[in-house]
Amino acid sequence: MANARLDLDTDQLAQNYEEINKIYQFQSGKMLVDKLGDLTGLRILDLGCGTGTLTIHFAKLVGPTGSVSGTEPLAKRVALGNETIAAENKKRKDESKHELHVSLAVGTAENAVGMFPAGSFDIICMNSVFHWVQDQAAALAGIRKLLNESGRLAICGSSKEHYHPQSEKNRVLAGERYREHVPGGIARLSTRSTLHSLLQDANLLSRTIDLVPYEVTFPNYDKLMEFEMASTFGNFLDFRFLPENLRKPAELEVIEAYRALDKGAGIPMTVTLLMTIAKKF
Ligand SMILES: C[S@@+](CC[C@H](N)C(=O)[O-])C[C@H]1O[C@@H](n2cnc3c(N)ncnc32)[C@H](O)[C@@H]1O
Repeated sequence: MANARLDLDTDQLAQNYEEINKIYQFQSGKMLVDKLGDLTGLRILDLGCGTGTLTIHFAKLVGPTGSVSGTEPLAKRVALGNETIAAENKKRKDESKHELHVSLAVGTAENAVGMFPAGSFDIICMNSVFHWVQDQAAALAGIRKLLNESGRLAICGSSKEHYHPQSEKNRVLAGERYREHVPGGIARLSTRSTLHSLLQDANLLSRTIDLVPYEVTFPNYDKLMEFEMASTFGNFLDFRFLPENLRKPAELEVIEAYRALDKGAGIPMTVTLLMTIAKKF
């Protein structure tokens, strides 16, 4: 499997993500958060927090007695998120509201264990992130150490076995010309059973892994492509993992497949999300 590159992000992609996550990842993230119950006073870590939209949502829910940390490998998204937090806190100060206890730092899910003391968190969240983590077993082992004794891990992401925003691209890359060069693509999506096994191997108990349908409509091809590029931090049309002679044809075929979805009346998509809350045991 090829790894997603972390050096393709740009200021524009980060800015686009800040806008477009509000119709997709932020919505699924809020559905996941709802499963966690009352968060007042809790200490939360949001791994792969992007530009921090969900992290800030967490900070509002934990209130003045809780605290939230976000980590994210892309420095541009961390900077943007910290700017949003500063602006939000300035506004809250002007309105005599308590400041949000939240900050974002650069880091990966795999190295988070070296960034915080053991047992620091009540909840660790990965929303639309787990499939980007290259060493998922190492990340889960670190997460277990970072959780306190009753700590919980919340994960949400596309189900590998169902339709998701990258399905059309995967269909193209499964074609005869490409498939021997891209076994598995660049995203390590889980099925219910692979996620269950990974969690079990890490001594994290998940009673249920829910399959949750989510409907989203992208206004047109341009917005859908903006979403794909921003959500994959520039990897969506990067085909450097293919031999040189196949890169352009793959790009053109993928673009054509996504253009074909735009029939002039919005692009509705029903995706299936895997949502789970796991506990330390
Ligand atoms: C689709 S975004 C989700 C962002 C955020 N969690 C949200 O709900 O909006 C995926 C994020 O995963 C991050 N990511 C990629 N590899 C990662 C890793 N190894 N550890 C943690 N995050 C990673 C990306 O940089 C990107 O910001």
